[in-house]
Amino acid sequence: MTATKGLEGIVAAESSISSIIDGVLTYRGYNIDDLAEQAEFEEVAYLLWHGSLPNREQLDQLHKQLSDSAKLPDGLISQMKLYPKEMNTMAALRSAVSSLALYDPEADDMSREANERKAVLLQAQLPSIVAAIARIKSGQEPVAPKEGVSIAENFLYMLTGEAPEEIAVKAFNQALVLHADHELNASTFAARVTVATLSDIYSGVTSAIGALKGPLHGGANEAVANMLYEIGSLDETDGYIQKKLDNRDKIMGFGHRVYKNGDPRAKHLQKMSRELCELNNDTSMYDMSVRIEELVTGQKGLKPNVDFYSASVYTQLGIEREVFTPIFAISRVSGWTAHILEQYENNRIIRPRAEYTGPANQRYIPVDLR
Ligand code: ACO
Repeated sequence: MTATKGLEGIVAAESSISSIIDGVLTYRGYNIDDLAEQAEFEEVAYLLWHGSLPNREQLDQLHKQLSDSAKLPDGLISQMKLYPKEMNTMAALRSAVSSLALYDPEADDMSREANERKAVLLQAQLPSIVAAIARIKSGQEPVAPKEGVSIAENFLYMLTGEAPEEIAVKAFNQALVLHADHELNASTFAARVTVATLSDIYSGVTSAIGALKGPLHGGANEAVANMLYEIGSLDETDGYIQKKLDNRDKIMGFGHRVYKNGDPRAKHLQKMSRELCELNNDTSMYDMSVRIEELVTGQKGLKPNVDFYSASVYTQLGIEREVFTPIFAISRVSGWTAHILEQYENNRIIRPRAEYTGPANQRYIPVDLR
């Protein structure tokens, strides 16, 4: 038995949800480029869960279900208010989502119908939780969700308490579409491993949030923003990045296990970043990002991934850095829950082997004789 570090190249599951073939990402066979340009996030969530795009009636019904489910249990809000103010927002999200199960009498109902309902509930409630955490952390009261608006609009509204501009809703919707699913990424794999023991959907999503938090995965978008703030200006960019490259330090937002010729999502976020910076009459963050890309791609051949330009997109939307990774979760919960439903449909416990590298033939010596 020989281990493959990081399971690189190992095909660990069959899935009909999303594919990465020759650098092209599709959701259920639809090219991500088409969906990013044209689809509403709710259509994409429906597509991931059901395998086909919704017709008008199905989409209207989903909007209603999401709207009806977006309000958080009062007990959960009270609980979140007790979290320490210096909380890590992903740790808070992980705790809150785990607690959601306590408020759901069907949490352990394993029927397909109940799990589909819980997938919609999780999709509806994650944006409300993230917005509430952000507000509580900054000493503000959470804002209740609005009825009859999209997830993108509702989230931006709940974050600020004000109706967002149309361009912000459009950009945010596109970011949600681009982050919705990504084959067997680390957090999705974590979700599938958890529910393959026939544990519940809340446990699966909680595991996924834990995996997403790390800076090698979803946590990279916040790390990119921290880097941009640390660099501060275009003038300082070359010196800062060159030092990192010379030290062989990791540059956040670059590289990918699967895409070696570029992440197909990055170009959409780059375009959005440029447009929003121009609209805000301050292209410094975009200019710095482009210069970083020139240096890192030029010298290391590494291309930006989904996290690189999303950092400047969210900054231009006026969102605090610590909410960036939770935003990833707001979108990816659609993919996680689709994968969880798929795992339940054709389940076998996921239990690989390890290549043992420890000592052999040890003899037990009683504690007082050691
Ligand atoms: N900066 C500098 N060097 C890098 C980077 C980077 N961002 N990414 C990879 N490398 C280097 C590695 O050090 C390695 O060099 P070596 O052969 O000299 O040791 C080489 O490129 C190959 O990289 P791997 O480590 O094999 O890449 P792996 O597939 O294991 O990891 C990962 C992929 C985690 C994305 C990595 O590229 C990375 O850490 N990137 C920065 C963090 C990041 O942006 N994560 C978000 C990924 S996208 C997402 O999850 C949403």
